[in-house]
Amino acid sequence: MNDFQYYAPTQVVFCRGAENRAGELVRQYGGTKALLHYGGGSVRRSGLLDRVKASLDASGVAYAELGGVVPNPRLSKVHEGIALCRAEGVDFLLAVGGGSVIDSCKAIGYGMKYDGEVWDFYEKKATPRSSMPIGAVLTIAAAGSEMSDSSVITNEENGKKRGVNSDLCRCRFALMNPELTFTLPPYQTASGCADIISHTMERYFSGGETVEPTDSIAEGLMRAVIDAAPKAVQNPEDYDARACIMWASSLSHNNLTGSGRGGNGRVGDWACHQLEHELSGMFDVTHGAGLAAIFGAWARYVMPSAPGRFARFARNVMDVREPDDEAAARAGIAAYEAFLRGIGMPVCLRELGLELTEQQLDQLAWNCSFADTRTIGSIRVLTREDMREIYRLAR
Ligand code: NZQ
Ligand code: ZN
Repeated sequence: MNDFQYYAPTQVVFCRGAENRAGELVRQYGGTKALLHYGGGSVRRSGLLDRVKASLDASGVAYAELGGVVPNPRLSKVHEGIALCRAEGVDFLLAVGGGSVIDSCKAIGYGMKYDGEVWDFYEKKATPRSSMPIGAVLTIAAAGSEMSDSSVITNEENGKKRGVNSDLCRCRFALMNPELTFTLPPYQTASGCADIISHTMERYFSGGETVEPTDSIAEGLMRAVIDAAPKAVQNPEDYDARACIMWASSLSHNNLTGSGRGGNGRVGDWACHQLEHELSGMFDVTHGAGLAAIFGAWARYVMPSAPGRFARFARNVMDVREPDDEAAARAGIAAYEAFLRGIGMPVCLRELGLELTEQQLDQLAWNCSFADTRTIGSIRVLTREDMREIYRLAR
């Protein structure tokens, strides 16, 4: 097992009605005036926003409001948030939503503590040194941002979607009420599940040695989501399925499943995520669905580099009974694709609604390789030519 550090400082309150503790928790972490940040309207329609406001009022926490965060959250909204927080003297950021809203808060937090342009951090021209305290009321189980060290923002001026990783942005608390996810449409539910499983896979298929406790946790998490996903898609108010998916979203992306697999627990392959982020950046696709569409092409391309690992996944997660490793590996990939199809996810780019031209394949590979200056992946290191080939195979 490799040496590692595991740091998961977020206080989790996981129960029905958790959102009613927002005011108390903001106070506990020193907030007196919060930015109430949310998305395009689901929190208004559900009445959640009013409950959170009532909770803030009850605890004497003042607030400023900024809605309108869209999936694949935009840099312009981050700028708006920074300006508003400065004008209003906000000292705490409260995200009421999913990964997009939380990530937008994280970017605002960095920007508030920086004199320059916040995009510098996402372009890797600067490293964040400070941030603001953030809390989350989670409304969708998917990105895992409620416990992750990551923030992903899209610069709509150039179609680039980029991430920053730093412990500075970790949420102080996450309020998780599975009932809040009952209103999620099936497509969002399924996309979330694809993303959650992918967060585990990115670490599981990293090419590192076997780390039995970590690998077993990862396999258990993947099995749990594969079991719960169709239940939540078919019956949106299945509390146990929703709860399972919600907790798995956090555990899949708080680095638990990376522990022992690399230097600081952040080890992972992340090729599928890097390939997908270019799709989201250029075509504004739903992140989890984009991952589903790229998975099969990526897995078949890299599998010969680690057939034993893919065979283990096939046997322990997908219940494949096939003695030969390569045959088991292929059957496992196909079985996982069948699962994705079963919950309404695309398994190729055409099913995602993209008919890519040769020129677009070139562009995607160019962007994903940062203009041919980086490789991605660790189970198999991928060059720009490999990236292009995977996009082509995913068509
Ligand atoms: O905007 P509203 O009206 O709230 O609608 C949202 C949005 O359209 C809707 N929704 C959320 N909760 C709902 C609901 N609709 C009904 N009922 C509810 N309870 O769902 C849609 C998607 O929301 P979003 O926040 O975009 O979803 P998700 O959590 O999947 O976040 C996706 C973003 O996170 C990034 C992705 O790239 C993408 O930009 N990621 C962030 C990560 C991180 N910070 O650690 C890691 C991930 O790998 C990922 O890259
Ligand atoms: Zn993801």
